[in-house]
Amino acid sequence: MTPLAVLVSLTGSILEEMLKDSLRVGLVIADRACLGLEIAKAFSIPAELIERTNFTKTFDRDAYTRRVLDVLLRYDVQFVAMAGFMTVFSQPIFDHYANRIFNTHPSLLPSFKGNRPVRDALQHGVKITGCTIHIATPDPDGGPILAQQEVPILPGDTETILHERIKKAERVLYPRVLREQLQLAKQTN
Ligand code: GRF
Repeated sequence: MTPLAVLVSLTGSILEEMLKDSLRVGLVIADRACLGLEIAKAFSIPAELIERTNFTKTFDRDAYTRRVLDVLLRYDVQFVAMAGFMTVFSQPIFDHYANRIFNTHPSLLPSFKGNRPVRDALQHGVKITGCTIHIATPDPDGGPILAQQEVPILPGDTETILHERIKKAERVLYPRVLREQLQLAKQTN
């Protein structure tokens, strides 16, 4: 049994923090070659690259979702944490893992959903943004909220500077929430 799989597409700094925090990550899945895979390797965690090569509207979301689901089932994964994973899944994975897929999003949801939340927050001139840990559902960034952390926007912030400040909060909050959720599941089983 694999307690937790972490899904990545980017630099994997949140994954790295989870591993340093001794979360029971048993599998890393990436949808593209990325630093997250290197981090998995450095921590000797099994990793699977399920490459998404098609980024157009003709992308076969169902087929991709089923491929990921097959791998999760093969490793007997119990919980899934998306940490900077840039592919939206379709229904089948949510049928199998209902309430067991988590995501972190760098805004205070329901504000600034989508794939440019940091830029959008800056463009709207909000003074406070943050991060949200939520249960992932077929509605992207729309699932039940588990925890949020405010992060201030400071004069002179660029997207990169602000995103890094938000990720600093995500690296603390996400492992804590995952640990609580895994613990909760253990108690109710
Ligand atoms: C995080 O801000 C996450 O919320 C967003 O992508 C970023 C991932 O950062 N979806 P990293 O790859 O863990 O450094």
